Amino acid sequence: MDLYNALYTTRAMRRVKPDPIPDDVVKKLLDAAIRAPSGGNQQKWRFLLLTDPSKKAQLQKLYREGLTELNATQYKAVMDLIQNGDPNDPEVIQAKKTNASAEWLADNLDQVPLIVFAWGKPNGESSIYPALWSLQLAATAEGIGSALTTLLFKKHTKQVLDILGAPEPTEWVPMAMVTLGYPTGRWAVAKRQPAHEVTFQDSWGKPVSWRVDTPLWQ
Ligand SMILES: Cc1cc2nc3c(=O)[nH]c(=O)nc-3n(C[C@H](O)[C@H](O)[C@H](O)COP(=O)(O)O)c2cc1C
Repeated sequence: MDLYNALYTTRAMRRVKPDPIPDDVVKKLLDAAIRAPSGGNQQKWRFLLLTDPSKKAQLQKLYREGLTELNATQYKAVMDLIQNGDPNDPEVIQAKKTNASAEWLADNLDQVPLIVFAWGKPNGESSIYPALWSLQLAATAEGIGSALTTLLFKKHTKQVLDILGAPEPTEWVPMAMVTLGYPTGRWAVAKRQPAHEVTFQDSWGKPVSWRVDTPLWQ
């Protein structure tokens, strides 16, 4: 697969089929992930592959609880927009899509065939993200949809670590999980605020001389 194809189309694909991902494919994803850069090339990461149905069911309940609480607090403005906004407004349409996809995951986390949990070291936590993004890009190349989420580590860290038999978050800090499975939908180019609107030239606030009005890879 062309690298730009993967870069442009690797979306948060939360809805997936329950079909298992073969070990031969799983090991390719992890082998790609650990090629990623890390601060000082320390490679201070740990991954846990979760396929156990009973553990996934326990986590689904926590995830559902977490999203319901976020919808009532942090995401309240978005929920109000979805309920009361103009249904033809592109922002409302996009918010509805993202919300439906997030709700699907909260209700069906136990149906996702593979969840990869990731840990980093205290003060070196950001090094985990290139590795997880590499894992997601490799997944796209294998025709597997993925979604990175951090929600389970907002309120339920202790319960999650207990379920996974993982240590207290002192030496190893749980950072995120990536859900993986074969997609039910199609790949599409991610819609984003254009590059020229979020990039400055030489001084903060000074616009760049170019524009990108449509994605440069289609
Ligand atoms: C650091 C980080 C944390 C995220 N946490 C969550 C999460 O807890 N739940 C979720 O459904 N998506 C989560 N996402 C996925 C984002 O919602 C997603 O990347 C964004 O909505 C863009 O979606 P798209 O790529 O499908 O356009 C997270 C993404 C990142 C990078």
